[in-house]
Amino acid sequence: MLQKISSHEEYTNAFNESINNPNDFWGKVAHSFSWKKKWDKVFSGGFEKADYKWFEGGRLNITENCLDRYLESIGDKTAIIWEPNNPSEKNRQLTYRELHEEVCRFSNALEKTGVNKGDTVCLYMPMIPELAIAMLACARIGAIHSIVFGGFSAQSIADRIKDAECKWMITADGCFRGDKPLYLKKIVDEALEQCPSIQKSIVFNRSNFDCNMKPGRDLWWADIIKDCTTTHDSAIMESEDPLFILYTSGSTGKPKGVLHTIAGYMVYAAYTFLNVFQYKPEQIYWCTADIGWVTGHSYIVYGPLLNGATTLIYEGVPQFPDWGRWWDIIDKYKVNIFYTAPTAIRSLEAQGTNWLKRKSLLSLSVLGTVGEPINEEAWVWYFKNIGKENCPIVDTWWQTETGGILISSLAGITPTKPSYATLPLPGVEPIIVDANGNEIIEPIAEGNLCIRKSWPGQARTVYKDHKRFIQTYFTTYPGKYFTGDGCKRDSNGNYRITGRVDDVINVSGHRIGTAEVENAINEHSEVYESAVVGFPHAIKGQGIFAFVSCQPHPNDLILFKQEVLNIVAKIIGPFAKPDRIEIVSGLPKTRSGKIMRRILRKIAEGEFDKVGDVTTLLNPEVVEEIIKKVKT
Ligand code: PRX
Repeated sequence: MLQKISSHEEYTNAFNESINNPNDFWGKVAHSFSWKKKWDKVFSGGFEKADYKWFEGGRLNITENCLDRYLESIGDKTAIIWEPNNPSEKNRQLTYRELHEEVCRFSNALEKTGVNKGDTVCLYMPMIPELAIAMLACARIGAIHSIVFGGFSAQSIADRIKDAECKWMITADGCFRGDKPLYLKKIVDEALEQCPSIQKSIVFNRSNFDCNMKPGRDLWWADIIKDCTTTHDSAIMESEDPLFILYTSGSTGKPKGVLHTIAGYMVYAAYTFLNVFQYKPEQIYWCTADIGWVTGHSYIVYGPLLNGATTLIYEGVPQFPDWGRWWDIIDKYKVNIFYTAPTAIRSLEAQGTNWLKRKSLLSLSVLGTVGEPINEEAWVWYFKNIGKENCPIVDTWWQTETGGILISSLAGITPTKPSYATLPLPGVEPIIVDANGNEIIEPIAEGNLCIRKSWPGQARTVYKDHKRFIQTYFTTYPGKYFTGDGCKRDSNGNYRITGRVDDVINVSGHRIGTAEVENAINEHSEVYESAVVGFPHAIKGQGIFAFVSCQPHPNDLILFKQEVLNIVAKIIGPFAKPDRIEIVSGLPKTRSGKIMRRILRKIAEGEFDKVGDVTTLLNPEVVEEIIKKVKT
């Protein structure tokens, strides 16, 4: 069993040991897992070539660590509770034994279908147990899963399939999100028109929606598992074999396929889950994220199952059938640990406390937040109204690339501070650098957040593009991992993340590259060029502001704006639609032709008097015009 930190002093000791003796520290943690062969070396390599490795020489299978090793001790314990979108539909609960059987059965089915160790498999599924089963089955046979969030468009799926060279697709007919049907199979069909690499597409029948099954390519999930047994010898994997690819947005237009490998990710996801949430064996844990994002990978599926926890998966949305649904779910299952995003907290807060009447919420003991900075007002509302001033809030800072939480308090063990993620986890050495790239040693500091040394959960590369990986994360501040975030540190060493300092915006906790949105908008035939920036948004944290210059000028502005929204939804997905579009006669540019986003950012933020000196611009006159437009 993993060692749990149970006092502030133990945290300090663990932290010090992890920094002074990382190999001993992580070696000890790793010993509590089940290995086919122990590692030769805990750690090797470094940031210069980004060739770091963890537990090299070890052999294991992550699903044995999630499932098999628990069969004897807690085989009858609930592993997954599934709450459907519609509260009148029957829920499902799978014990560790049942989940193991389902994963084995589907592993056999995948192998029978022809999926091999090392193949990449694309998953585009609703929030149902079969998504967890499919990802675990991939991991069990040594295939690499690449999950695409259900809100992405056909084009985005196709781009990801092509980049990851997926040969297999796993999807479902569709599902309901609230009262809205989502026709996943239709979206996948459209994507697959561009993807001849896909040999087979496996379809789970969730909703009895009509499906056009393409002969020779499409297979029903139920058909392929029919003759498969519920036992399976898991593939023996090397520690550094790939586990999954997950696409995330960056400063450039093309999302990056962030690659995580098996052993380091496993050790880190498990260790952080246990310690941050202070999970106790009998507790019910619920994370509201979608499994299609990294939070779902690490803290709905892998982290909880690696700890033998009971993890709740909810298919629907917070407002269906009404804004009290989440609180009903907490009371129905007596959820103890609840993990969500600031944007959700703000949406719920905006509905007023009437929805909390006649809800107990007394089962809760720990609250968590993730995905974006949490403002003090939302923090206090969450603390008072949901936690009844009795539950510590862990504000967990991390990223797709970090695999697991890097900065957070440990629930009830280390102090919390509203809007601060607080202290680094053992093994994590944050540093703050100034504009010149120099490390700020003084305790009180503000600047860009870097990490000094590798931790086991760190991403290993960008799939098929190691150069881009090095370029993105390790060249801005040589010798350090650059997170892309700005932050502050107080006199007690608490970190407060202030947001992205690159061209990435965080909309409702969704990470969106401004260049991606611009590329999509530029597809409109009347658009000459565009610039996208973030602006403060009361619910979403940041909204998307698009400045668009057109040639010719559109006649019907309402129609034009609608077309722009449709294009963004089609190319990326509905969640990336701009909140505001302004048509301008030109974008402010330097004499060398570079768009001055800094000026547009200030304008979008309403800080008109802070645009600074514009006289050196190529076209200073447009700034006045844009300000005038935005003001009205
Ligand atoms: O800007 C930070 C913000 O989300 C970014 C990472 O996004 P993604 O890779 O999609 O992963 C989100 C879930 C882990 C970070 O660079 N972020 C994440 N958590 C926090 C946060 N910002 C402030 N506070 C947090 N707790």
